[in-house]
Amino acid sequence: MHIVPVLQPGSPQAQVIVGLFRAILIACGVIMAVVTGAIVYSLMHFRSRPGTPEPRQILGSKPLEILWTVVPILVVVWMFLLTARASRESDPTPAVLDPDLRVIGHQWWWEALYPKSSAVTANEIHIPTGQRLLVQVDSADVIHDFWVPELGRKMDMIPGHPNYIWLEATEPGTYRGACAEYCGAQHAWMRIMVVAEPPGAFDSWVRHQAQPAPDTVSKYAEGAALFQQLTCANCHAIRGSSATNQFAPDLSHMAARQTLAAGVLSNTLPNLVGWLRSPQTLKPGCLMPNLQLTPQQASALADYLESLK
Ligand code: CUA
Repeated sequence: MHIVPVLQPGSPQAQVIVGLFRAILIACGVIMAVVTGAIVYSLMHFRSRPGTPEPRQILGSKPLEILWTVVPILVVVWMFLLTARASRESDPTPAVLDPDLRVIGHQWWWEALYPKSSAVTANEIHIPTGQRLLVQVDSADVIHDFWVPELGRKMDMIPGHPNYIWLEATEPGTYRGACAEYCGAQHAWMRIMVVAEPPGAFDSWVRHQAQPAPDTVSKYAEGAALFQQLTCANCHAIRGSSATNQFAPDLSHMAARQTLAAGVLSNTLPNLVGWLRSPQTLKPGCLMPNLQLTPQQASALADYLESLK
C-alpha cells in the first residue's frame, strides 16, 4: 500500500489521471511563482525610501490589459483540452453495456457479482492483470461511491441508476479502495480490496467463487446448525445450504477473504468470534445484530464459518 495511492497509478486509466494532475499542478506552480515573484519584486523595488518622491503614476495600460486577459484564457483553454482528453482516455464510453463485474453498495459493505461465471463475493474483488473489466456499479440503499485510487476515477453508486466504470491493474497486487460518498455512520468502514492476479490465478479464483460452499456441515455440525437456527440465515447466503438470502454478504467462501466487516478486522478466528459476539461495538450502527451468543456458541459458529474456504 502506498502512502499517497492516488499518485501511484496502477492502471493505464489512473496513469492518465495522474498525468493530468501533474501537468495542472506544474502549470499552477509556475503561475504562482510568476505572481508571487512580481509581488515581491514590486514590494522591494518600489518601496518608500526616505527623501524619494512618489514614483511615476501609471493610469491604465492597454497592452497589459490585453496580456492579462489573453494569457489566462489560453491557460484555461489548454487545461480544458487536456482535461477533455484525459476524460476520454481514462473513461471511454463502453461500446456494449455488458459488465464483467457488478458491484453493489450497501450500508456498509460491497456486494460483488461476476455475471459471466455466476461467482458471488463481498468486500474483496479479484481481477486479472492486464485486462480491462467493465464494472457496473449500483446501490441497494443510499448513494455510495466506488473508488480505488490507484486504479482509476471515482464512480457514484446510485440506487436504481447503474453506472459503469473500467477497472484494470497492470501489475499483480492488492489495491485498497473506499466508499467516497458519505453514506451514514460507518461510511469510513466501507472499504473494498481489489486483488489483481495473473489471468490463470484469477480464473481458478473465479471458478472457485462460483462453486457452492465447501461441505463442512458434518465436521462443524454445531456451528452449521446455529447458522440455520439463529437469524444468520435470514440475511446471509451460504450456497449449497438452505440459506440463500442476499441482504448481507454471501458467506459461501468467506474464509478465503482477507478482512471481516468490510475492512474493520483482519479475517482471523479470534476476530470473527469477537465480531459475532459484539458487532455493534466493532461497527456501531451496522445492520449485523448482536445475537447474544454465548462464548461457546460464538466459537462453534466461527469454527464453521472459517471452514468455508
Ligand atoms: Cu458508502 Cu460512504
